[in-house]
Amino acid sequence: MRGLFISLEGIDGVGKTTQVARLRDYARDFGREIVVTREPGGTRLGAELRQLLLHGFDVLPRAEALMFAADRAQHVDEVIRPALERGAIVICDRYLDSSLAYQAAGRDLAVAEIRRLSMWATGGLLPERTYLLDMDPQASHARLRHGEDRMEAAGEGFQRRTRQAFLALARRDPERFRIVDAADPVETVCTAIRDDAAPLLARLRHTDPVSPNGGPTA
Ligand code: TMP
Repeated sequence: MRGLFISLEGIDGVGKTTQVARLRDYARDFGREIVVTREPGGTRLGAELRQLLLHGFDVLPRAEALMFAADRAQHVDEVIRPALERGAIVICDRYLDSSLAYQAAGRDLAVAEIRRLSMWATGGLLPERTYLLDMDPQASHARLRHGEDRMEAAGEGFQRRTRQAFLALARRDPERFRIVDAADPVETVCTAIRDDAAPLLARLRHTDPVSPNGGPTA
């Protein structure tokens, strides 16, 4: 792929959306198209699924897992892959690690099955870097500035399992993940992400977005 794919993950209320916006502002200096997107809801189909998943009636665990996977499949094929092929920097607010944490650990489905489903839905596309914004669930819940949606209302035990699952995923794949302490001030979190992303972004300056393999410019 010619672009750069970055995702941000974490339990509800950790400040991902703020950090996505800050990373986008920083990435503007690197001379590439920037695509900021999110899951669920990064496409027209996804917007409908998001409404059903977060504000609809009860959805049982396996149906829920399939709906998040459907959102992701559409998102990858319609938005993320084409953007990466154009050489864009894609910054995604949640991606498949959310399904591994929320649907597998949170809803108690088999992690191997959710992983297989997610990899099938995405054609195996993984981000190059994933920032896990980590924080105690009680503290993050207190930060929510809106009424609870269906996922946020799943309770503290659910959020605790989800947090532990995210941490386990990050420890299992230290090359892709960076764990950031989201309890730190916004600026500190932002600096930690920027410092880590800087070399990945700088690399884009030395590669041609339109060469077949994203190789160095002549
Ligand atoms: P957010 O976009 O405001 O973070 O809300 C999305 C909610 O959906 C959040 O509670 C996490 C949840 N979610 C899953 O349970 N599985 C998934 O695969 C994704 C992308 C989100």
